[in-house]
Amino acid sequence: MHSFRYTQGELFAENVSLQSLAEQHGTPLYVYSKATITGHFTRLDAALGQLDHLICYAVKANSNLAVLSTIAKLGGGFDIVSAGELYRVIKAGGDASKCTFAGVGKTRDEIVYALEQGVYCINAESEAELRYINQVAGEIGKKAPVAVRVNPNVDAKTHAKITTGKSENKFGIEFENILEVYGRVAAEMPNLQIKGLQMHIGSQLTSVDPFVEAVKKVVPLVQEVKDKYGIQFFSIGGGIGINYKQSLDSGDEGWWQENSEVHPLTVQAYAEAVVPHLAPLGLRILCEPGRFMVGNAGVLLTKVLYEKRGAAKTFKIVDAGMNDLIRPTLYEGWHMITPLKQPATDAVEKVDVVGPICETGDFLAQNREIPLVNEGDYLAVLSAGAYGFTMASNYNTRPMPAEILVDGDKATVVRERQTLEDVLKGEHIA
Ligand code: LLP
Repeated sequence: MHSFRYTQGELFAENVSLQSLAEQHGTPLYVYSKATITGHFTRLDAALGQLDHLICYAVKANSNLAVLSTIAKLGGGFDIVSAGELYRVIKAGGDASKCTFAGVGKTRDEIVYALEQGVYCINAESEAELRYINQVAGEIGKKAPVAVRVNPNVDAKTHAKITTGKSENKFGIEFENILEVYGRVAAEMPNLQIKGLQMHIGSQLTSVDPFVEAVKKVVPLVQEVKDKYGIQFFSIGGGIGINYKQSLDSGDEGWWQENSEVHPLTVQAYAEAVVPHLAPLGLRILCEPGRFMVGNAGVLLTKVLYEKRGAAKTFKIVDAGMNDLIRPTLYEGWHMITPLKQPATDAVEKVDVVGPICETGDFLAQNREIPLVNEGDYLAVLSAGAYGFTMASNYNTRPMPAEILVDGDKATVVRERQTLEDVLKGEHIA
């Protein structure tokens, strides 16, 4: 679901023309739709309705303050993985007491900051980490709320770089060792309060089956931990995949069509499959969606600078590169690319859409049939709202793009484009 569609020959985000935004603010430019984010939150919230639940949005997917503020106002919590992300949540008006703190390598400063701010829970990923949190909490006179992340050894059947729930991945503690670890926490770590159990098997899952397999495997363990240690919650992690191949025509349901041939996983199907296994636990269920919430709520706008017809290929050289959107080259991510001005004909041409970075891996699409576009035309790279800007860098000393949030017919610059002074800030000649 998303709020991007062609109206009178131009691509719009809600009621705002993307062409006008590109002309006014320059490119590369990230544009987000508030209605899309709100719609996703509301749909997931409704699908989990029969459970006592808390949606903890995974901040890493898109950490812009305006996005966080939108989710905070909807009542969402946050899944954070650094002190920086917690700082952002608080700046955006989010509630620390609705934050879970994940990640395998938390530092002392981060643990102290999280405890001082009063996070809901710290999700620990190793026994060494649990012992360290216990030590730090003792030193500052606090009791740390903790959950242990279980690695259920279930294959999420997604890209290898975003698979997290297999034994060979660095995440969590082996399923077989969990009860012993909780036992040692209860017996030997007096500054910890056992609050829950967490899992997350991977990202961009396009079938419910791995979710169901993991939930069915872990629920009996959760029940046992609940019986022994009186936990409050079970977090099922994030990972709900999105449809990267969408229709921009207005379908029967309004501005979007879910293409079930391409991607059968809907949030309703997800909830119908997992809720019956979770409800009997009688626990609070946490869910940590990142991509689902914001992926299809964002586009990256870019301008065609040059065309180069080589012996083997035609290249459309655009002004956004792998430093702005790294997903195509890092995960073989497929993002739909479409002109901001609707093409007059259905003619397409097979091209590589490449950026200005001096690397062969700098592409947004390869061997892709796109409508005919000329130098100076603008393109939208769709479904770029998750892991787009947050993974951007200053590689090649390129300033970070600006970000805009559209709400109805209003467009607000929610992060200014970096200047070269911004990029060089803090740097000195020895
Ligand atoms: N919870 C935990 C513990 C996670 O590690 C993650 C994502 C999430 C929740 C949210 O997962 P989501 O709902 O977004 O799938 N940069 C990659 C994705 C990395 C995901 C890392 N962990 C990409 O662009 O595909």
